[in-house]
Amino acid sequence: MTDAARFWDRHAEGYAKRPVADETAYERKLELTRARLKPAMKVLEIGCGTGTTALRHAPHVAHVRATDISPRMIEIARRKAQTAGIGNVSFELSDIERLGSDNGAYNAVMAHSILHLLRDRHAAIARIARLLPENGLFISSTPCLAGGRLGWLRYVLPPARWLGLVPWVGFFTVETLLADFEEAGFEIEEQWQPGPAKALFVVARKVERPALTPA
Ligand SMILES: C[S@@+](CC[C@H](N)C(=O)[O-])C[C@H]1O[C@@H](n2cnc3c(N)ncnc32)[C@H](O)[C@@H]1O
Repeated sequence: MTDAARFWDRHAEGYAKRPVADETAYERKLELTRARLKPAMKVLEIGCGTGTTALRHAPHVAHVRATDISPRMIEIARRKAQTAGIGNVSFELSDIERLGSDNGAYNAVMAHSILHLLRDRHAAIARIARLLPENGLFISSTPCLAGGRLGWLRYVLPPARWLGLVPWVGFFTVETLLADFEEAGFEIEEQWQPGPAKALFVVARKVERPALTPA
């Protein structure tokens, strides 16, 4: 098990019990996502945690494959699905770094509160692009901790991480993240930040790259 998986395993029970930090923003993000979902869609979620978001969207699509590196998170998510009687979600233990053979297999990929936790987010975003067909949707919500009001965290988080209180966290700005999406072949369809220090919600669409013609 990786350090990150061990960290999230330790925190899974607490994470499951903790109420959503900003309920109004969370519901709005669900609505913005729901507006794009169709009953025949196959959806993949990366870093699904205890499955709350996957379970909210499942009744509106054909299937959700929800993945996470923490066995404990997955266990809690499966229990929640069973209690809710929702059968079209499969919760699976998987690292984003190991996803990748089913190119173009999903109509939408969701990644909420995870891109800032990945040491190589560029590789992850490129992998997500491969999992989508042309016009496929990448829907994410990401804390962008550099540059703004949260810049001071850069000094506080390393010692907190050393004490095992927080996981490894990457620092980048809203502009950098949007540029990363575009570089990976996505067009930004919608972006919303509920407040200056809040996570950036983005709906991005995979666009067709113009074929290279020989000079
Ligand atoms: C901050 S939680 C977010 C959970 C959920 N998406 C949410 O919005 O509540 C981050 C989640 O990402 C998972 N995670 C971290 N690194 C991962 C990786 N490399 N591959 C898959 N999941 C990962 C953690 O186990 C944890 O459940």
